[in-house]
Amino acid sequence: MSTMPEGASVRVEVAQECIAQPASDSATAYGVQGRARVKGHSSITDKEFALFRDLIFEIAGIHLSDAKKALVSGRLGRRRRHHGFATFRQYHDLVTRQDQALERQIMVDHLTTNETYFFREPKHFDFLRDVLMPRFSNVPELRIWSAACSSGEEPYSIGMVLADGRTDNWRLLGTDISARVLEAARKGIYPLEDTARIPPQFLQRFCLKGIRSQAGSFMVDRAIRERIEFRPLNLNGEWPALGRFHAIFLRNVMIYFNPTTKARLVQRLIAHLEPGGFLITGHSESLNGIRTSLRMVTPSVYQLGR
Ligand SMILES: C[S@@+](CC[C@H](N)C(=O)[O-])C[C@H]1O[C@@H](n2cnc3c(N)ncnc32)[C@H](O)[C@@H]1O
Repeated sequence: MSTMPEGASVRVEVAQECIAQPASDSATAYGVQGRARVKGHSSITDKEFALFRDLIFEIAGIHLSDAKKALVSGRLGRRRRHHGFATFRQYHDLVTRQDQALERQIMVDHLTTNETYFFREPKHFDFLRDVLMPRFSNVPELRIWSAACSSGEEPYSIGMVLADGRTDNWRLLGTDISARVLEAARKGIYPLEDTARIPPQFLQRFCLKGIRSQAGSFMVDRAIRERIEFRPLNLNGEWPALGRFHAIFLRNVMIYFNPTTKARLVQRLIAHLEPGGFLITGHSESLNGIRTSLRMVTPSVYQLGR
Protein backbone atom coordinates (compact mmCIF):
# COMPACT_ATOMS: atom_id res chain seq x y z
CA MET A 1 0.00 0.00 0.00
CA SER A 2 1.50 3.36 -0.94
CA THR A 3 1.12 6.40 1.28
CA MET A 4 -1.39 9.17 0.82
CA PRO A 5 -0.18 12.39 -0.70
CA GLU A 6 0.42 15.19 1.84
CA GLY A 7 -2.44 17.20 0.36
CA ALA A 8 -4.94 14.64 1.65
CA SER A 9 -4.39 15.44 5.30
CA VAL A 10 -7.42 17.64 5.87
CA ARG A 11 -9.75 15.23 4.15
CA VAL A 12 -8.54 12.35 6.28
CA GLU A 13 -8.99 14.20 9.54
CA VAL A 14 -12.53 15.12 8.64
CA ALA A 15 -13.27 11.58 7.54
CA GLN A 16 -11.84 10.07 10.69
CA GLU A 17 -14.26 12.09 12.75
CA CYS A 18 -17.00 10.85 10.53
CA ILE A 19 -15.93 7.21 10.80
CA ALA A 20 -15.46 7.43 14.53
CA GLN A 21 -18.95 8.82 14.93
CA PRO A 22 -21.29 6.02 15.99
CA ALA A 23 -24.46 5.44 13.99
CA SER A 24 -26.11 7.39 16.71
CA ASP A 25 -26.56 11.01 17.49
CA SER A 26 -25.34 12.79 14.38
CA ALA A 27 -26.76 16.12 15.46
CA THR A 28 -23.48 17.97 15.16
CA ALA A 29 -22.72 16.30 11.83
CA TYR A 30 -25.83 18.01 10.51
CA GLY A 31 -24.98 21.31 12.09
CA VAL A 32 -27.92 21.18 14.48
CA GLN A 33 -26.35 22.29 17.71
CA GLY A 34 -27.20 23.88 20.99
CA ARG A 35 -30.79 22.66 21.36
CA ALA A 36 -32.20 21.82 24.75
CA ARG A 37 -31.62 18.25 25.83
CA VAL A 38 -33.85 16.26 28.08
CA LYS A 39 -32.08 13.89 30.41
CA GLY A 40 -33.36 10.42 31.22
CA HIS A 41 -34.90 7.71 29.14
CA SER A 42 -38.51 7.03 28.43
CA SER A 43 -39.30 3.98 26.34
CA ILE A 44 -41.42 4.18 23.26
CA THR A 45 -45.03 3.07 23.71
CA ASP A 46 -46.69 0.55 21.38
CA LYS A 47 -48.73 3.31 19.77
CA GLU A 48 -45.69 5.50 19.22
CA PHE A 49 -43.72 2.57 17.79
CA ALA A 50 -46.59 1.94 15.36
CA LEU A 51 -46.40 5.56 14.18
CA PHE A 52 -42.69 5.26 13.30
CA ARG A 53 -43.11 1.75 11.87
CA ASP A 54 -45.76 3.08 9.47
CA LEU A 55 -43.74 6.17 8.62
CA ILE A 56 -40.51 4.36 7.72
CA PHE A 57 -42.52 1.84 5.72
CA GLU A 58 -44.23 4.63 3.81
CA ILE A 59 -40.95 6.44 3.14
CA ALA A 60 -38.44 3.65 2.56
CA GLY A 61 -40.46 0.43 2.28
CA ILE A 62 -38.58 -0.84 5.34
CA HIS A 63 -40.61 -3.30 7.38
CA LEU A 64 -39.93 -3.08 11.12
CA SER A 65 -41.17 -6.05 13.10
CA ASP A 66 -42.23 -5.66 16.73
CA ALA A 67 -38.84 -7.09 17.67
CA LYS A 68 -37.31 -3.77 16.53
CA LYS A 69 -39.12 -1.73 19.19
CA ALA A 70 -36.11 -1.45 21.51
CA LEU A 71 -33.87 -0.52 18.60
CA VAL A 72 -36.25 2.23 17.45
CA SER A 73 -36.60 3.47 21.01
CA GLY A 74 -32.82 3.65 21.45
CA ARG A 75 -31.98 5.22 18.10
CA LEU A 76 -34.79 7.76 17.98
CA GLY A 77 -34.59 8.42 21.72
CA ARG A 78 -31.41 10.37 21.04
CA ARG A 79 -33.26 12.61 18.57
CA ARG A 80 -36.20 13.00 20.95
CA ARG A 81 -33.89 14.13 23.73
CA HIS A 82 -31.92 16.32 21.36
CA HIS A 83 -35.09 18.28 20.61
CA GLY A 84 -36.09 18.39 24.24
CA PHE A 85 -39.28 16.37 23.73
CA ALA A 86 -40.78 14.36 26.55
CA THR A 87 -42.51 11.88 24.24
CA PHE A 88 -41.86 10.10 20.95
CA ARG A 89 -45.24 11.34 19.78
CA GLN A 90 -43.88 14.90 19.83
CA TYR A 91 -40.88 13.82 17.79
CA HIS A 92 -43.22 12.11 15.31
CA ASP A 93 -45.25 15.33 15.03
CA LEU A 94 -42.02 17.14 14.19
CA VAL A 95 -40.68 14.75 11.54
CA THR A 96 -44.01 14.58 9.74
CA ARG A 97 -44.15 18.34 9.28
CA GLN A 98 -43.83 19.53 5.68
CA ASP A 99 -40.92 21.85 6.50
CA GLN A 100 -38.88 19.15 8.32
CA ALA A 101 -37.24 17.35 5.39
CA LEU A 102 -33.79 17.46 7.05
CA GLU A 103 -35.04 15.99 10.33
CA ARG A 104 -36.90 13.32 8.33
CA GLN A 105 -33.62 12.48 6.61
CA ILE A 106 -31.86 12.23 9.97
CA MET A 107 -34.61 9.92 11.19
CA VAL A 108 -34.15 7.71 8.11
CA ASP A 109 -30.39 7.69 8.73
CA HIS A 110 -31.07 6.47 12.26
CA LEU A 111 -33.50 3.76 11.24
CA THR A 112 -31.44 2.19 8.45
CA THR A 113 -28.93 -0.54 9.11
CA ASN A 114 -25.79 0.17 7.16
CA GLU A 115 -23.54 -2.78 7.89
CA THR A 116 -21.16 -3.49 5.02
CA TYR A 117 -17.53 -4.32 4.34
CA PHE A 118 -15.04 -4.67 1.51
CA PHE A 119 -15.43 -7.79 -0.66
CA ARG A 120 -18.49 -8.95 1.27
CA GLU A 121 -19.77 -12.19 -0.27
CA PRO A 122 -16.59 -12.73 -2.30
CA LYS A 123 -18.16 -15.13 -4.84
CA HIS A 124 -19.90 -12.15 -6.44
CA PHE A 125 -16.54 -10.54 -7.13
CA ASP A 126 -15.26 -13.78 -8.70
CA PHE A 127 -18.41 -13.78 -10.85
CA LEU A 128 -17.75 -10.20 -11.84
CA ARG A 129 -14.21 -11.01 -12.94
CA ASP A 130 -14.80 -14.44 -14.50
CA VAL A 131 -18.24 -14.14 -16.10
CA LEU A 132 -19.63 -10.61 -16.16
CA MET A 133 -16.59 -8.75 -17.40
CA PRO A 134 -15.77 -11.25 -20.19
CA ARG A 135 -19.48 -11.26 -21.18
CA PHE A 136 -19.38 -7.48 -21.73
CA SER A 137 -15.77 -7.16 -22.84
CA ASN A 138 -16.81 -5.46 -26.09
CA VAL A 139 -19.07 -2.71 -24.75
CA PRO A 140 -17.57 0.78 -25.03
CA GLU A 141 -18.30 1.46 -21.36
CA LEU A 142 -19.26 -1.03 -18.65
CA ARG A 143 -21.88 0.48 -16.30
CA ILE A 144 -22.66 -0.98 -12.89
CA TRP A 145 -25.07 0.26 -10.21
CA SER A 146 -24.61 -0.49 -6.53
CA ALA A 147 -28.18 0.22 -5.49
CA ALA A 148 -27.88 0.23 -1.69
CA CYS A 149 -24.21 1.06 -1.44
CA SER A 150 -24.06 2.13 2.22
CA SER A 151 -20.69 3.75 3.06
CA GLY A 152 -19.07 2.74 -0.23
CA GLU A 153 -17.22 -0.50 0.51
CA GLU A 154 -19.32 -2.42 -2.05
CA PRO A 155 -18.85 -0.04 -5.02
CA TYR A 156 -15.15 0.42 -4.20
CA SER A 157 -14.70 -3.37 -4.15
CA ILE A 158 -16.42 -3.60 -7.55
CA GLY A 159 -14.27 -0.70 -8.75
CA MET A 160 -11.04 -2.47 -7.79
CA VAL A 161 -12.03 -5.56 -9.79
CA LEU A 162 -13.01 -3.42 -12.79
CA ALA A 163 -9.90 -1.25 -12.64
CA ASP A 164 -7.80 -4.40 -12.51
CA GLY A 165 -9.36 -5.86 -15.64
CA ARG A 166 -10.55 -2.97 -17.80
CA THR A 167 -8.32 0.08 -17.65
CA ASP A 168 -10.65 3.05 -17.80
CA ASN A 169 -13.78 2.22 -19.78
CA TRP A 170 -16.15 1.66 -16.87
CA ARG A 171 -18.39 3.69 -14.56
CA LEU A 172 -20.15 2.97 -11.31
CA LEU A 173 -23.18 4.52 -9.68
CA GLY A 174 -23.55 4.13 -5.91
CA THR A 175 -26.88 5.09 -4.35
CA ASP A 176 -28.43 4.84 -0.91
CA ILE A 177 -31.29 6.38 1.02
CA SER A 178 -29.02 7.44 3.90
CA ALA A 179 -27.28 10.81 3.53
CA ARG A 180 -24.89 9.98 6.36
CA VAL A 181 -23.41 6.90 4.69
CA LEU A 182 -23.14 8.63 1.31
CA GLU A 183 -21.08 11.36 2.91
CA ALA A 184 -18.61 8.72 4.12
CA ALA A 185 -18.71 6.91 0.76
CA ARG A 186 -17.73 10.03 -1.17
CA LYS A 187 -14.64 10.49 1.01
CA GLY A 188 -13.42 6.94 0.36
CA ILE A 189 -11.44 6.91 3.62
CA TYR A 190 -11.64 3.96 6.01
CA PRO A 191 -9.93 2.64 9.13
CA LEU A 192 -6.84 0.58 8.38
CA GLU A 193 -8.41 -2.53 9.94
CA ASP A 194 -10.87 -2.59 7.04
CA THR A 195 -8.04 -3.58 4.67
CA ALA A 196 -8.13 -7.12 6.12
CA ARG A 197 -10.60 -8.37 3.50
CA ILE A 198 -9.08 -6.57 0.51
CA PRO A 199 -7.00 -8.92 -1.69
CA PRO A 200 -3.27 -8.04 -1.31
CA GLN A 201 -2.76 -7.18 -4.99
CA PHE A 202 -5.60 -4.62 -4.82
CA LEU A 203 -4.31 -3.25 -1.53
CA GLN A 204 -0.98 -2.65 -3.19
CA ARG A 205 -2.45 -0.97 -6.25
CA PHE A 206 -5.56 0.86 -5.13
CA CYS A 207 -5.22 1.79 -1.45
CA LEU A 208 -3.18 4.65 -0.04
CA LYS A 209 -2.05 4.37 3.55
CA GLY A 210 -2.30 7.47 5.73
CA ILE A 211 0.83 8.75 7.44
CA ARG A 212 1.44 11.15 10.33
CA SER A 213 -1.87 12.86 11.07
CA GLN A 214 -3.62 10.39 8.75
CA ALA A 215 -2.10 7.32 10.38
CA GLY A 216 -4.63 4.59 11.07
CA SER A 217 -6.66 5.14 7.93
CA PHE A 218 -6.39 4.50 4.21
CA MET A 219 -7.92 6.10 1.16
CA VAL A 220 -9.15 4.42 -2.01
CA ASP A 221 -7.08 5.59 -4.96
CA ARG A 222 -8.36 8.54 -6.96
CA ALA A 223 -8.33 6.48 -10.20
CA ILE A 224 -11.21 4.48 -8.70
CA ARG A 225 -12.92 7.25 -6.75
CA GLU A 226 -13.32 9.44 -9.82
CA ARG A 227 -15.17 6.69 -11.72
CA ILE A 228 -17.84 6.30 -9.04
CA GLU A 229 -20.70 8.72 -8.64
CA PHE A 230 -22.56 8.65 -5.32
CA ARG A 231 -26.14 9.89 -5.30
CA PRO A 232 -29.04 9.72 -2.86
CA LEU A 233 -31.79 7.46 -4.12
CA ASN A 234 -34.75 5.91 -2.34
CA LEU A 235 -35.47 2.51 -3.90
CA ASN A 236 -39.05 2.98 -2.74
CA GLY A 237 -39.42 6.51 -4.13
CA GLU A 238 -39.22 8.45 -7.39
CA TRP A 239 -36.07 7.83 -9.42
CA PRO A 240 -34.34 10.30 -11.71
CA ALA A 241 -33.33 9.23 -15.23
CA LEU A 242 -30.64 6.63 -14.65
CA GLY A 243 -30.10 4.87 -17.95
CA ARG A 244 -29.26 1.20 -18.22
CA PHE A 245 -26.64 -0.92 -16.51
CA HIS A 246 -24.81 -4.12 -17.33
CA ALA A 247 -25.22 -5.16 -13.71
CA ILE A 248 -27.10 -3.99 -10.65
CA PHE A 249 -25.89 -5.00 -7.20
CA LEU A 250 -28.88 -5.07 -4.86
CA ARG A 251 -27.37 -6.83 -1.90
CA ASN A 252 -28.58 -7.10 1.67
CA VAL A 253 -31.35 -4.55 1.37
CA MET A 254 -34.35 -6.60 0.18
CA ILE A 255 -34.29 -8.37 3.56
CA TYR A 256 -35.90 -5.20 4.95
CA PHE A 257 -38.72 -5.18 2.38
CA ASN A 258 -41.99 -7.14 2.28
CA PRO A 259 -42.81 -9.37 -0.74
CA THR A 260 -44.92 -6.69 -2.47
CA THR A 261 -42.22 -4.02 -2.15
CA LYS A 262 -39.60 -6.52 -3.34
CA ALA A 263 -41.60 -7.55 -6.39
CA ARG A 264 -42.28 -3.95 -7.40
CA LEU A 265 -38.62 -3.03 -6.96
CA VAL A 266 -37.36 -5.95 -9.03
CA GLN A 267 -39.75 -4.97 -11.85
CA ARG A 268 -38.45 -1.40 -11.77
CA LEU A 269 -34.83 -2.54 -11.77
CA ILE A 270 -35.33 -4.81 -14.77
CA ALA A 271 -36.17 -1.70 -16.80
CA HIS A 272 -32.66 -0.44 -15.98
CA LEU A 273 -30.79 -3.54 -17.13
CA GLU A 274 -29.11 -3.83 -20.52
CA PRO A 275 -30.11 -6.95 -22.47
CA GLY A 276 -28.13 -9.83 -20.95
CA GLY A 277 -27.48 -7.72 -17.82
CA PHE A 278 -27.27 -9.17 -14.31
CA LEU A 279 -29.09 -8.49 -11.05
CA ILE A 280 -27.04 -9.59 -8.05
CA THR A 281 -28.71 -9.97 -4.65
CA GLY A 282 -27.35 -10.92 -1.24
CA HIS A 283 -26.87 -14.64 -0.68
CA SER A 284 -29.54 -14.67 2.02
CA GLU A 285 -32.02 -13.01 -0.34
CA SER A 286 -33.79 -14.61 -3.24
CA LEU A 287 -36.35 -13.80 -5.88
CA ASN A 288 -38.33 -16.91 -4.93
CA GLY A 289 -42.01 -16.21 -5.24
CA ILE A 290 -41.49 -13.14 -7.44
CA ARG A 291 -42.75 -13.41 -11.02
CA THR A 292 -39.94 -12.08 -13.13
CA SER A 293 -38.41 -12.40 -16.57
CA LEU A 294 -34.98 -12.86 -15.00
CA ARG A 295 -33.36 -16.28 -15.08
CA MET A 296 -31.25 -17.53 -12.19
CA VAL A 297 -27.64 -18.10 -13.25
CA THR A 298 -26.39 -19.22 -9.85
CA PRO A 299 -28.03 -18.60 -6.46
CA SER A 300 -28.29 -14.81 -5.95
CA VAL A 301 -27.29 -13.99 -9.55
CA TYR A 302 -30.05 -13.36 -12.09
CA GLN A 303 -29.83 -12.47 -15.76
CA LEU A 304 -32.12 -10.63 -18.15
CA GLY A 305 -32.66 -12.35 -21.51
CA ARG A 306 -31.03 -10.88 -24.60
C1 LIG B 1 -27.07 -3.70 5.16
S1 LIG B 1 -26.69 -2.37 4.08
C2 LIG B 1 -26.07 -3.26 2.66
C3 LIG B 1 -24.90 -2.57 2.00
C4 LIG B 1 -24.25 -3.32 0.85
N1 LIG B 1 -25.15 -3.46 -0.26
C5 LIG B 1 -23.77 -4.67 1.29
O1 LIG B 1 -24.34 -5.70 0.91
O2 LIG B 1 -22.80 -4.72 2.06
C6 LIG B 1 -28.33 -1.88 3.53
C7 LIG B 1 -28.37 -0.48 2.95
O3 LIG B 1 -29.63 -0.29 2.31
C8 LIG B 1 -30.00 1.06 2.48
N2 LIG B 1 -31.46 1.18 2.27
C9 LIG B 1 -32.47 0.75 3.07
N3 LIG B 1 -33.66 1.08 2.54
C10 LIG B 1 -33.39 1.73 1.38
C11 LIG B 1 -34.21 2.33 0.38
N4 LIG B 1 -35.54 2.34 0.46
N5 LIG B 1 -33.61 2.94 -0.67
C12 LIG B 1 -32.26 2.94 -0.76
N6 LIG B 1 -31.44 2.40 0.15
C13 LIG B 1 -32.00 1.80 1.22
C14 LIG B 1 -29.55 1.39 3.90
O4 LIG B 1 -29.41 2.77 4.09
C15 LIG B 1 -28.24 0.62 3.99
O5 LIG B 1 -27.12 1.44 3.72
